Amino acid sequence: MTDKRIAVVTGGNRGIGFEICRQLARREDLHVVLTSRDIAKGQAAVQKLASEGLEVSTFQLEATSAADISALAQWLEQTYGRVDILVNNAGVLLDQQRGQGSVFAAEIDTLKETMDNNVYGPLQLCQALVPLMKKNGYGRIVNVSSGMGQLGDMGGGYTAYRFSKVSLNALTRILAAELHDSLILVNSMCPGWVKTDMGGPSANRTVEQGADTAVWLATLPNEGPSGMFFRDRSPISW
Ligand SMILES: NC(=O)c1ccc[n+]([C@@H]2O[C@H](COP(=O)([O-])OP(=O)(O)OC[C@H]3O[C@@H](n4cnc5c(N)ncnc54)[C@H](OP(=O)(O)O)[C@@H]3O)[C@@H](O)[C@H]2O)c1
Repeated sequence: MTDKRIAVVTGGNRGIGFEICRQLARREDLHVVLTSRDIAKGQAAVQKLASEGLEVSTFQLEATSAADISALAQWLEQTYGRVDILVNNAGVLLDQQRGQGSVFAAEIDTLKETMDNNVYGPLQLCQALVPLMKKNGYGRIVNVSSGMGQLGDMGGGYTAYRFSKVSLNALTRILAAELHDSLILVNSMCPGWVKTDMGGPSANRTVEQGADTAVWLATLPNEGPSGMFFRDRSPISW
């Protein structure tokens, strides 16, 4: 049990998720649970943060696994008696790497796998963790989305990825509507084009820049926004 707020980050072992863990862990009032589907990678990430003087816990979570999600919820309740922040960061971008750059080449299996990872995982995590947030009457949910999911700026290609981020944004809106009379605030954010394994070396942003808005949304005051989409701490259109 702890008085600190508990923040859970999915896909915390590398990329933007790791940097979100780092930035959240620097806050005295928070304890971070860095989740990773590969426990060895999760432990290595925790050790890296420990070498920077940041104490973080890890938990094995394949974000598409209902069993893992249920185990996480139980462990959080038993270990801390609470969860306050959920950052749905884990995500995949499969279209291009499978040679399915065009909508005419998009295969249903790729669409389904992408939706499992980028939408149904976050949905199930919210279903499992929001009841714990409700117990304390406090919650912050951050869905790491993408400008590729902006309908107002929709381009070609990346079909599965675009579908998934549009749907993740819908999840943000649905949750925010159902939780409107609570202090559980739910928002989407776009990190911009970030130098990670997914973004590639030509990306124009650092992980520090990519993580900033997610951390800001994860630590919003009670009067903060809900049901909105942000980049660089500013609202953007759907
Ligand atoms: N980079 C960009 O330019 C950019 C732009 C817009 C949005 N985003 C979004 O930002 C988020 C993070 O992206 P990134 O650039 O940091 O990607 P990344 O470097 O490819 O890292 C992805 C992370 O997600 C994890 N992951 C993927 N599927 C998972 C699953 N089913 N269960 C558990 N973990 C899973 C990976 O774990 P493993 O290490 O085990 O594979 C890894 O930790 C994603 O949602 C992405 O769509 C990124």
